[in-house]
Amino acid sequence: MKNKATLLNIVLAAVVVVLVYQLSTHKPEVSKENTTTETLISQVEQGSTTKRSVGARGHIHPKPALVIGSYGEDGTPNIMTAAWAGIVNSRPMSIGVSIRPACKTYDNIMATKAFTVNVPSARNVAHMDYVGRISGHDENKFESLNLTAVKGDFVNAPYVGEFPIVIECELTEIVDLGSHRQFIGKVIDTKVDDRYLDDNDQVDIKAINPVIYGGDYYYGFGQRLARPGDAYKLFIDDMEPDFQPTNYANSTLATIYNRKSVRHYTDRKVTKEQITALVKAGMAAPSAVDKRPWAFVAVSERSMLDSLAAVLPYAKMLKQASAAIVVCGDMDKALKGNEQAYWVQDCSAASQNILLAAESMGLGAVWTGVHPIKEREDDVKKVLNAPESIVPLNVIVVGYPTGQEKPKDKWDESNVHWEKW
Ligand SMILES: Cc1cc2nc3c(=O)[nH]c(=O)nc-3n(C[C@H](O)[C@H](O)[C@H](O)COP(=O)(O)O)c2cc1C
Repeated sequence: MKNKATLLNIVLAAVVVVLVYQLSTHKPEVSKENTTTETLISQVEQGSTTKRSVGARGHIHPKPALVIGSYGEDGTPNIMTAAWAGIVNSRPMSIGVSIRPACKTYDNIMATKAFTVNVPSARNVAHMDYVGRISGHDENKFESLNLTAVKGDFVNAPYVGEFPIVIECELTEIVDLGSHRQFIGKVIDTKVDDRYLDDNDQVDIKAINPVIYGGDYYYGFGQRLARPGDAYKLFIDDMEPDFQPTNYANSTLATIYNRKSVRHYTDRKVTKEQITALVKAGMAAPSAVDKRPWAFVAVSERSMLDSLAAVLPYAKMLKQASAAIVVCGDMDKALKGNEQAYWVQDCSAASQNILLAAESMGLGAVWTGVHPIKEREDDVKKVLNAPESIVPLNVIVVGYPTGQEKPKDKWDESNVHWEKW
């Protein structure tokens, strides 16, 4: 009995010691809910330089989210997602993919000695996520997702017909790493949907919009930062880069702050698809009572652009540009009476959407005014052959920027009045 009491006392004393130690060493946890990206970025801007160890983790960013294609021994096509993958050699161009032995893909590659690497676009994110969760041991994922398994032209592996980039690889080496085996494949052929290739066979990554695997989330491709071979000039005397340093993690804010009025364009033509995307962005604007009192005239014919330039004194850059959008108010669709004037705000919101969309697409645009100058309205209407109910608000001139124009920092705290004037 006495021994029992002594033992109990010792245990209680130990508990007290542990509790006191824990309380004295406790550091308040940073609330994850309050730690927004913006908070983190502002800490970085304030020069916080301490580093915290987070253990042996694979924090390499960005990580790709690729889809690996392979055939089973019976010829059934299969696809799985792999993030532990990347280019591992240049000559010969080789790709390494690490795969767990439990995967059907593992058995397939061991048997066929070939695989494809398929790069999904953000449009394919749900397909990519699905094939990373369901195993080919249980179902034919091509059939479940209604995707097209196209037999490789050069290797015994299928690729995904719907994905923008597909790479055929022949297995050259296997490295046993522990949990995963790395399959190294020599690239035999790479195919890219030609709508994503420019005249020099360069891939337009922004158009493809590849998926970035961020661990907790899939991300789309962000804003352009800099041209390789340009950003480094920032640190070299006598070299003027086009590059503008940016800290914006939020690509929408980056687009807003980087927008500038662009009046100088290269010879590269703006396509009909791009103009359509711009007009679609315009129509996404809010409007009073959802009246959408707008009409857009998309202009890309040289003679039309020149005719507009001839009547608009401040839109001479039309002569250089390959496209323009005339944003008009349609009085037949607008509100009536003293609410009619809301059309100007509605069409202005649409115009700003177009300018921001152009910036985000790597295009340059400038708003040139028409309304409320009556003669200009009449002249533009005449050029466009527009009906009576139409009032042109502006002509937005669009082209590929030469890089001459830079964004301005217009932040001025004296314009802000908190709560009251
Ligand atoms: C984003 C993401 C990344 C993945 N990366 C890998 C990887 O690199 N290697 C791996 O073995 N499994 C990876 N997986 C898991 C496999 O894709 C998953 O186990 C799949 O069901 C295997 O398919 P299979 O059995 O048909 O080959 C990933 C899954 C997701 C969602």
